[in-house]
Amino acid sequence: MRYNMTCQLSKENLPEHIAIIMDGNGRWAKEKNRPRLFGHNAGMKTLRKIVKASSDAGIKILTVYAFSTENWKRSQEEVDGLMNIAVEYFKKEVGELHKNNVKIQVIGDIAGLYPKVQDAARKAMETTKDNTGLIFNVALNYGGRNDIVYAVKALMEKGVLPEEVTEERLNAELYTKGLPDPDLLIRTSGESRLSNFMLWQTAYTEFFVIDTYWPDFDQEAYYHLIEAYQQRHRRFGTA
Ligand code: IPE
Ligand code: IPE
Ligand code: MG
Repeated sequence: MRYNMTCQLSKENLPEHIAIIMDGNGRWAKEKNRPRLFGHNAGMKTLRKIVKASSDAGIKILTVYAFSTENWKRSQEEVDGLMNIAVEYFKKEVGELHKNNVKIQVIGDIAGLYPKVQDAARKAMETTKDNTGLIFNVALNYGGRNDIVYAVKALMEKGVLPEEVTEERLNAELYTKGLPDPDLLIRTSGESRLSNFMLWQTAYTEFFVIDTYWPDFDQEAYYHLIEAYQQRHRRFGTA
């Protein structure tokens, strides 16, 4: 399936970088008396649609929070299931994403993932690395604090002196190096917190929390939020 470009959104003031905390899979499944993994599988389908909707809308960068450094605290069954879904997603989707010129990047502590997840992620990144369309960041084993600690380590390994440390240099060592900060952050399922997502990068990001659980989120709701973002007045500390 080729993505089409029939999006009705105004191109004016379109967010360049959208970040999404895909939350509520477990509660969605619970309401249906189904296991949590049923919710995660449904969430994967939503992700497929939202990636396409982003590409169609001409969004340059989409970053989704798929697994946090704290999510290892869940049951072994759920963690294993989520890792299997990640492998399945990379294997199944890479062909279509590649056809549509999407560049996949996994951000987070990749070395801490199961080897099979690392392999699938690296293959997806390698296949799509020269693509020039949507940059699609999948945050896996990602933590905002871990991101900053790794950046500090990288600066120290390069022998950067204290007086040479600047926001720009630290920014250039984050997992999101080279990318602008998110303009818009969406969190589904009604929780109003960052849960350790992109702590540094969201300094001036516009937040939208919606009650919909991630598996029920769709293109219409997504474009509605983008339109709401287009109405916001960003000041960045100015008067
Ligand atoms: C988001 O859904 C997916 C991951 C964190 C991996 P949850 O699994 O957090 O669902 P809820 O918040 O428990 O409903
Ligand atoms: C954040 O959601 C992580 C992801 C969506 C991957 P959580 O469900 O883990 O966050 P908390 O525990 O509700 O803060
Ligand atoms: Mg949750």
